[in-house]
Amino acid sequence: MAHQLLTPQQEIRTDRLVLTPLTPADIDDVHAVFSDARTWGHLPSGRHADRATTVDLVQRKIGGRARHGLGSWTVRTTDGAFVGVGGVDMTAARVWNLGYRLAPAAWGQGYASEVAAAAIDQAHRTAPCVPVTGRVLTSNPASAAVLRKAGLSLVWQGPASVAVPDGVLGQVWTDRELADDQFAWLVRNA
Ligand SMILES: CC(C)(COP(=O)(O)OP(=O)(O)OC[C@H]1O[C@@H](n2cnc3c(N)ncnc32)[C@H](O)[C@@H]1OP(=O)(O)O)[C@@H](O)C(=O)NCCC(=O)NCCS
Repeated sequence: MAHQLLTPQQEIRTDRLVLTPLTPADIDDVHAVFSDARTWGHLPSGRHADRATTVDLVQRKIGGRARHGLGSWTVRTTDGAFVGVGGVDMTAARVWNLGYRLAPAAWGQGYASEVAAAAIDQAHRTAPCVPVTGRVLTSNPASAAVLRKAGLSLVWQGPASVAVPDGVLGQVWTDRELADDQFAWLVRNA
């Protein structure tokens, strides 16, 4: 029965949000947010131009949760309105990546911070020895503010690994000291 005790809760409730594992039933809602150019203002090349890209994303996140016991959630308000996607996913560097992409109508109400706090809590319960990290562009101060408020520290800033306008840098944030190979992977993928 021990495995049941170690299985993370399937549904997490915060003060204002209900966080559930992503499922195929969420694809249309997720696609609406991930195909909205406003949610890719800092990285226009990332916008989902077709539904197949979102299907792939959701499948990868479902697979990651199955392998690692935790993954990004569908975020809804307690009255059922879809807010977006957020949480932690395991990376190839064996660190959690904290991420969030919310519908523009939901911005500025502290929802991403609420998701981040719940995700860090669950990450620490699921795999206490695994760092929680985040990567942002300097052109996205709202995202960096969420990481800072969640207790992560900025440990690197430099050239981004993706094509960005001149002057924009990548950042790596973490909740603890990283192993050299973890740090190097995060910098390579910042
Ligand atoms: C980034 C995002 C998730 C933030 O969601 P949110 O629910 O509005 O975030 P919160 O309200 O929890 O916190 C945002 C914080 O950023 C601050 N902020 C917002 N705009 C800012 C700006 N231009 N400069 C500095 N801080 C800013 C807010 O004041 C707030 O901090 P506070 O609570 O201390 O006042 C949301 O804007 C989003 O989905 N953006 C598109 C996707 C994206 O960029 N994802 C991150 C990719 S790394």
